[in-house]
Amino acid sequence: MAVSFSTRAVLFSSLILSPAAAQFTGSAACAECHQPQWAAQKRSAHSYALSRRNELWLFGAGRQATTPVSRLDADYYLEHGLSQYTSPNVKALTPGHTKPDGVKYRVFDPGAQILRCFQCHSTGKLNFTPEQGILPAENGVQCEACHGPGADHSQLLRPKILNAAGLNDLCGACHRQPPKPGEDVNWQDPWNVRHQPVSLSQSACFEKGNVSCITCHDAHSGEVKSTCANCHATVTHRAKISAAQTCESCHMPKVAASPQLSFSNHWIGVYAPRKPLLPLHRSKGGAAPVGR
Ligand code: HEC
Ligand code: HEC
Ligand code: HEC
Ligand code: HEC
Ligand code: HEC
Ligand code: HEC
Ligand code: HEC
Repeated sequence: MAVSFSTRAVLFSSLILSPAAAQFTGSAACAECHQPQWAAQKRSAHSYALSRRNELWLFGAGRQATTPVSRLDADYYLEHGLSQYTSPNVKALTPGHTKPDGVKYRVFDPGAQILRCFQCHSTGKLNFTPEQGILPAENGVQCEACHGPGADHSQLLRPKILNAAGLNDLCGACHRQPPKPGEDVNWQDPWNVRHQPVSLSQSACFEKGNVSCITCHDAHSGEVKSTCANCHATVTHRAKISAAQTCESCHMPKVAASPQLSFSNHWIGVYAPRKPLLPLHRSKGGAAPVGR
């Protein structure tokens, strides 16, 4: 007997799935009518965020890294201690691991750690084999991860109606939600730069300009276009700026979250040279701590 379990209630905001959740159809069903979105989506890392090679699950599309996960027995999965990184092309410790033996997760652990890995990297309801093997409905982040279950087309989420905060909420279901008022974020921890909605929520472009994830990213392919000039057509810099330098290189600086992983700081702001974690001033909540 296959049981069904969903951590969506925890992971996803009220925006998407209602608990009475309707049926998922799988992205193939959308392809016939929405060819352009489908083709763009197939170019994205989202589409390949989870794949399977025989008994091995591969997490990550390989843009930055892939981490293998395998099943140990009826109760346990193993997140491997060594991951394959892309740049540099090396095998090295998985983030958060201190030794190469890997970390064991119990399937029905109260924290549901391993189920959460699968939930963010797949689409639809997680199912289980009769032997408690985890069986995603569809590997990777596909149509219904953002639009909700598609069996009833009239119930699909139409993200076009969302403002920047609404999109932070939608994308933040997996990329992490912005902090709630009063919630502390350790801005000195480079790992947090990985959580784009958290950073974007602090920037003046978001607050005063309604800049959202899809101002810059194509929602389906993930591709980035530079949009700064749409709103900042005439900036007079005191500093001298060469034409070869992109706006993003200074205002969204790259941060090394680990020796092999790097992320762009989505807190768009003015940064001091070689201090890419926190801008010199913040648009809300007073001055940021500078110089640490
Ligand atoms: C039989 C053809 C067909 C299928 C299959 C289909 N759609 Fe649609 N879809 C349409 C048409 C036609 C429209 C435009 C009319 C409307 O807005 O309902 C539309 C509109 C949409 C919109 C809203 C567009 C907007 O302007 O905001 C979204 C989102 C969407 N579809 C997603 C999906 C997803 C996801 C799937 C698969 C689960 C899917 N559709 C399956 C035909 C289809
Ligand atoms: C169901 C979970 C989920 C949701 C919802 C989600 N993402 Fe993602 N996203 C991921 C995962 C997982 C990856 C990592 C893909 C990989 O393995 O490289 C990712 C990667 C990305 C990337 C990097 C792609 C690249 O080419 O390197 C972008 C950009 C992105 N997401 C944007 C968005 C935006 C914008 C939204 C909201 C409209 C969104 N995501 C919603 C899970 C999600
Ligand atoms: C809350 C949702 C969520 C959970 C839970 C989650 N991931 Fe991810 N994962 C993401 C997103 C979003 C990205 C894209 C991060 C980025 O590139 O900004 C990602 C990226 C990755 C990558 C690509 C490397 C990278 O850092 O970009 C790997 C590998 C990965 N995840 C493995 C795992 C494993 C293994 C687990 C469970 C131990 C897990 N993930 C749990 C959302 C999640
Ligand atoms: C990462 C989240 C995400 C995924 C996955 C996703 N969409 Fe979308 N979709 C969006 C967002 C956000 C918009 C609004 C885009 C805009 O307004 O520019 C959108 C808009 C649409 C629209 C309206 C027309 C348009 O292009 O703006 C259709 C139709 C659609 N999506 C269908 C699909 C189909 C079919 C798939 C799977 C092949 C899919 N989407 C996968 C987030 C997603
Ligand atoms: C003002 C433009 C802009 C906005 C708004 C924006 N991004 Fe990005 N994003 C970028 C740029 C530029 C990169 C770096 C691309 C590169 O290096 O090729 C990037 C990279 C990423 C990556 C790859 C990992 C990283 O951090 O470098 C992910 C994932 C991502 N964005 C998700 C999001 C999500 C989710 C949102 C909404 C919360 C968002 N982005 C909003 C411009 C933007
Ligand atoms: C949709 C419009 C829009 C887009 C696109 C946009 N911004 Fe902004 N940005 C704003 C608004 C509005 C403000 C607030 C201006 C004010 O306070 O007077 C702002 C503020 C800023 C600031 C000042 C930040 C601070 O903390 O004082 C910088 C720097 C900036 N933007 C750079 C950029 C860069 C670089 C890009 C492209 C990656 C970009 N913006 C894209 C609207 C936008
Ligand atoms: C070499 C790094 C660098 C590059 C490249 C760069 N900026 Fe700046 N930008 C700065 C610095 C430093 C400041 C604050 C001091 C000043 O005005 O020179 C600034 C200030 C700004 C401000 C005003 C912030 C305020 O508080 O009023 C905006 C808006 C802005 N830049 C947008 C852009 C845009 C758009 C581009 C691309 C066309 C760009 N910048 C390219 C470094 C850079």
